[in-house]
Amino acid sequence: MPQVSVHVAQRSYQARIENGLLARAGTLLGDLLPQASKIFVVTVAPVRRRWGTKLLRSLNSAGFKPQVIQMPDGEPAKRLKTIETLAERLIRLGADRKAVLIAFGGGVVGDVTGLLASLYMRGVELVQMPTTFLAQVDASIGGKTGVNLGAGKNLLGTFYHPRIVLIDPELLGTLAKRAFRAGLYEALKCGIIGDVDLFLRFESKRAQILARDSVEIEGIIAQSVKLKAEVVSADEQEGGLRRVLNLGHTIGHALEAETGYKTLLHGEAVAWGMVAATNIALAVGRTDSVTAGRIADAVLSLGRLPELKVSARKILARLQADKKTQGGVVHFVLPREIGKVEIASDVPDNVVINAVEELRRLSRGGWGK
Ligand SMILES: NC(=O)c1ccc[n+]([C@@H]2O[C@H](COP(=O)([O-])OP(=O)(O)OC[C@H]3O[C@@H](n4cnc5c(N)ncnc54)[C@H](O)[C@@H]3O)[C@@H](O)[C@H]2O)c1
Ligand SMILES: [Zn+2]
Repeated sequence: MPQVSVHVAQRSYQARIENGLLARAGTLLGDLLPQASKIFVVTVAPVRRRWGTKLLRSLNSAGFKPQVIQMPDGEPAKRLKTIETLAERLIRLGADRKAVLIAFGGGVVGDVTGLLASLYMRGVELVQMPTTFLAQVDASIGGKTGVNLGAGKNLLGTFYHPRIVLIDPELLGTLAKRAFRAGLYEALKCGIIGDVDLFLRFESKRAQILARDSVEIEGIIAQSVKLKAEVVSADEQEGGLRRVLNLGHTIGHALEAETGYKTLLHGEAVAWGMVAATNIALAVGRTDSVTAGRIADAVLSLGRLPELKVSARKILARLQADKKTQGGVVHFVLPREIGKVEIASDVPDNVVINAVEELRRLSRGGWGK
């Protein structure tokens, strides 16, 4: 089974990636956490309905007596109020310092449960069991937890690492097509920033990937997790290197905010952001046209992305406003070659405007399927 180690100051831990892992979760956790007093599975209704029974069966057969705590589904539930409600539930259910929380869901469940685990009785054990593509390749690795404030996303949070990350790609079988594709863009991002083989896989196995071929998907997840784990192990708290993971996110976040978080999934916004970053890299001479063409093709050939009707000037204004929170400079992660990126802080405004206008034009065009 592919295993990836994450090395951080607090502790090192494994991410295991394997089709069918869900059924073995109980045995694995029994070996890893023999002292666990009680196990609490934090989840949402859609995940519980599809996969809950299987997980509970596995935990029960290993001798645990798991209890399920359901939280409301979706991004609006990523608030401090949810943490308090869940903590009150834990108290009522008798959770003590030796309790173990399993985050069983997408990135929202992972972020909320991670924050809860870091705060409850000053910290209890956490297991991440991500069930969306985005959470399997990205959110479950790296120890960032958080909830949103009215002023913006992820403004309250902690760094808190799980004991283990259990990734079962089979769980993606019940994901909607659009959500599945949105996760693919984050995996492709890992290829562009640091894994040439992963990028080549997207170029040569596109049809199999889109058909969710289980070998390809397991491989893509393992490679993406490895890349993220390496970056996080080298720079746990985003001092420098970790910023490369933000490829496509500078403009992507601005697009998400400008469209009110309604028309674009996060991965789709990142996809557009990566195309923009590639065009910017070409315009400022950081990359060549062959590389830029390959990256744009790899992104755009995964399928049609939602049309963008945003104003390029408004996107620029958002980047300028963000600048205040980022030490006065807008940083762009720009692709240099396949597998190599660099951080640039000297991109002229007109280049950004042109890149966003190009996205609008592309989004109306006839590419993709
Ligand atoms: N901590 C990090 O490093 C990090 C990194 C990236 C993103 N995030 C966060 O992750 C969140 C987004 O995560 P997401 O895209 O997973 O969204 P999500 O958690 O809201 O899940 C999306 C939807 O898929 C459903 N779902 C989950 N698993 C399913 C399955 N196997 N089958 C069918 N439906 C399923 C959920 O119920 C939900 O309705 C954002 O809040 C973002 O800020 C965190
Ligand atoms: Zn992202």
